Amino acid sequence: MAIVITPGQQRLGVRVALGVLLIIVFRSILFPSNTQPKEIQSHGVLERVLLTDKYLDVHKYPFLQHRTGRDERPDLFDKEVNDGVMDFWTRFQKPFITGSETAHLDQQVVRGAIEDLLMFNGWVAGACPTLKRPFGQNSMDEHFEDLANQGHLYYIGIVVHSADHFLVDQLAVIVQLARRLGTRNIFVSVLDSASTDSTATLSDLCEAVMITLGIAFRIKRVPPMTHEPSAAYYPLEEAQARNYALEPLHELWQKRSVKFHKVIWLKGFTCPNDVLESLRVSEVNNAAMVCGMDWAEHNGFFIFSDRWRTRDIEGNLFRQAKSNSKPEAGPPRDKTGTERYANHLPFQVFCCESGSHVVDPEQSYYRGIDYRASEMAQNLSSTELPPDWDPEYQCMDSTQMWFCRDLWTDAAKDGLKGGKGGLSGKVPIGHNRKAGHKRDEVPPAAAAEPNAAELKAHERDEKAEKQAVEFAKRQAIKDDKEQDSGTDNDAMAESDENAAPPPMPAQDQLPASAYLIPNAAFTPARILVNPRCITTYGGVSHTQLALDLFGTKGHEDNGGKYALEDWMGPPDSFVCQEMRTTGGRTAPKSQRRVGWLLQNEVSRRVADMGS
Ligand SMILES: *[C@@H]1O[C@H](CO)[C@@H](O)[C@H](O)[C@H]1NC(C)=O
Repeated sequence: MAIVITPGQQRLGVRVALGVLLIIVFRSILFPSNTQPKEIQSHGVLERVLLTDKYLDVHKYPFLQHRTGRDERPDLFDKEVNDGVMDFWTRFQKPFITGSETAHLDQQVVRGAIEDLLMFNGWVAGACPTLKRPFGQNSMDEHFEDLANQGHLYYIGIVVHSADHFLVDQLAVIVQLARRLGTRNIFVSVLDSASTDSTATLSDLCEAVMITLGIAFRIKRVPPMTHEPSAAYYPLEEAQARNYALEPLHELWQKRSVKFHKVIWLKGFTCPNDVLESLRVSEVNNAAMVCGMDWAEHNGFFIFSDRWRTRDIEGNLFRQAKSNSKPEAGPPRDKTGTERYANHLPFQVFCCESGSHVVDPEQSYYRGIDYRASEMAQNLSSTELPPDWDPEYQCMDSTQMWFCRDLWTDAAKDGLKGGKGGLSGKVPIGHNRKAGHKRDEVPPAAAAEPNAAELKAHERDEKAEKQAVEFAKRQAIKDDKEQDSGTDNDAMAESDENAAPPPMPAQDQLPASAYLIPNAAFTPARILVNPRCITTYGGVSHTQLALDLFGTKGHEDNGGKYALEDWMGPPDSFVCQEMRTTGGRTAPKSQRRVGWLLQNEVSRRVADMGS
């Protein structure tokens, strides 16, 4: 029997087909494709127009919670565990969950679980409110509303390399931060850099907690950089790991125009209030970076520990000072820093990492600064001949020191202080010396022979190099600590053998015939250490440490608790503790003082960008 189709039916058919097609086309235009639902997705057209993502809503955007590199290998007890879970579900959970009369109870159970989780304090964080702080920051009425009310988004970065003993407490800190700042205001990026301990299992715990609380996260596990640990160049490893941890930050900006207000790097263990206070210090000072201070237990004392990546504003190594030493003998060596340290006030530094730190992405990552390391490292596992080190070769130090130098250079690109701009003004050296690095003194422009500056720089470098060779000879020492558990084992021991190099000769002592722009003339990078934010490691007696550092009596809040008034320029030279070879974290380090002139750095950077 032939089917007879009337023109009316035909029209209807075509309309239906067109309609379906239209819906498909619209869908594909308006909503992004779902082929990789786990990756951060771009906005659909409609979303872009109608919605502004003010919060990280994980229920609306499931791709905000993402885990890669999970250990999926079959396990010995997989079957038993699964059987148990199934049994519990079918006998005790399913019958009640499906009954409508118990529905409100389920909701209550979930709410209760979330309430309980928000109280989660880990092993150490529970004691935080009882620890001594100089300005009574732990008082019960400190809720950091000023931070929470802004509705800003915060990015928390954690790089774990076989340091599972921190992870539970770091999770507790995240939960506590989420409680103050809002669970929809934070993104957590955990990078497991080839851990061999129980980090993978604890990552499961983190994942479960963050899913329950509705916190956006990405947990990523990456294999080691090379499978032969001795072939890895540690600064490069560190740089890579951090850049991995920052991937979601860039993706969220590029694909969804979500910008974060601050990036918080959690290292070791830091009390939640101290992190929040560092956020406040960062905010008030519009700082590019604010670091805590890092204390490790050492023969019954606590010593300042992250000396590899920290330099005071004169470019000196911090002292490996004890927590109970007098402030004059405290970690920073420069005068202003020492004075402020004595009063527990934030002080400016050339570079820091020392524990948990807060970075302003607007002054760094969003401006194209990422983590890097020297590419000149000698690879011991390859058969190449050792290079003939050029006396003027770059300092091959930690990735954080590279990052700080990039921050200074980037800030300096904005020109001279006071907005005089550009690199046009050449200033006689020594002219600005008496004024030190005083903020407001923009040196007057002066005519100069073009080559004089280079000549001068060369002269200085040569001097630095002579010193350097001497020091390198005496001081090439091996850091023989073997364990690799994320504590302070990249510090160099301080001894007579390994004293910090003395400062470079002051520029007054150099002939004043040459002309260049002193570092102090450029717009400074705002890098601070907040001595009240302390980072510690497992086993540290926090109560004693807090007493050592802050004493028993409180301090007057003289209004200068957070803000720094005077910003100095960077030093003309700094102590370079470098790793020239592969060999992982414990490869030998040597030390020298190298000259560092912003003028050269800025022109190099401008040239790099031009090419
Ligand atoms: C060193 O060489 C080895 C073997 O050629 C290679 O696997 C490794 O990636 C190299 N390391 C670095 C830091 O380039």
